[in-house]
Amino acid sequence: MAVSIKSEREIEFMREAGKILAKVHDELGQAIKPGISTWEIDKLGEKLIRSYDCIPNFLNYNGYPASICVSVNEEVVHGIPKKNRILKEGDIVSLDAGLIHKGYHSDAARTYAVGKVSPEVQKLIDETKQSFFEGIKMAKAGNHLFDISNAIDAYISKCGYGIVRDLVGHGIGTSLHEDPQIPNFHQNRRGLLLQPGMTLAVEPMINMGRADVEWLADNWTVVAEDGLPSAHYENTILITDGEPEILTLL
Ligand code: MF3
Ligand code: CO
Repeated sequence: MAVSIKSEREIEFMREAGKILAKVHDELGQAIKPGISTWEIDKLGEKLIRSYDCIPNFLNYNGYPASICVSVNEEVVHGIPKKNRILKEGDIVSLDAGLIHKGYHSDAARTYAVGKVSPEVQKLIDETKQSFFEGIKMAKAGNHLFDISNAIDAYISKCGYGIVRDLVGHGIGTSLHEDPQIPNFHQNRRGLLLQPGMTLAVEPMINMGRADVEWLADNWTVVAEDGLPSAHYENTILITDGEPEILTLL
């Protein structure tokens, strides 16, 4: 397992790629309203990414047919945008987006409430986001990779939610998916030593009910087996000598 350490020059490209993606997410977030189709969200996302002279890295990745993964309610990740899938008040929607800028990838996900949702569902969204921040408190040079995993697990387990185990976070750089894999659940080993210059996509996927997931017949859409809502929050981060730098926030 070779984990790449980015040079200062590469880090600058990763920063730019991250900032652009943060802007794309910001604009997509403002478009989320009852009545919009998941297809329209994808088209807007692709247009925004290309407007920054970037390439949507998900499009055609292993045959994935869109630029933005749009996952509604019990859909965990990798939902395929569709003209006839219209968001309605009370839904939640996870948008996972990524792009390539000057040869460097960024990757980030957000979950939004569509109009007003129940307090229980809003809590799932908020705790999923918070678990990312709990995890990256451990993302420091000198700590080990699974300190991040264990911190996410410890936080989410207190909430009583199910942590998805079939999908994990990952290194990122000149490829969308690089080593290492980053589980969001407890590990007994410590994992690799974190070093400045590592760039990682940390992405808890949290189910309100049980952790088990299954794949729909489209071979992409991952859903919670029990049909309860699921949330996703992801940023690309940089390990430094001090606090991690979150590259995909404004
Ligand atoms: N953000 C996803 C990940 O971290 C990538 C989506 S895979 C795609 O793995 F095929 F849908 F692009
Ligand atoms: Co990712």
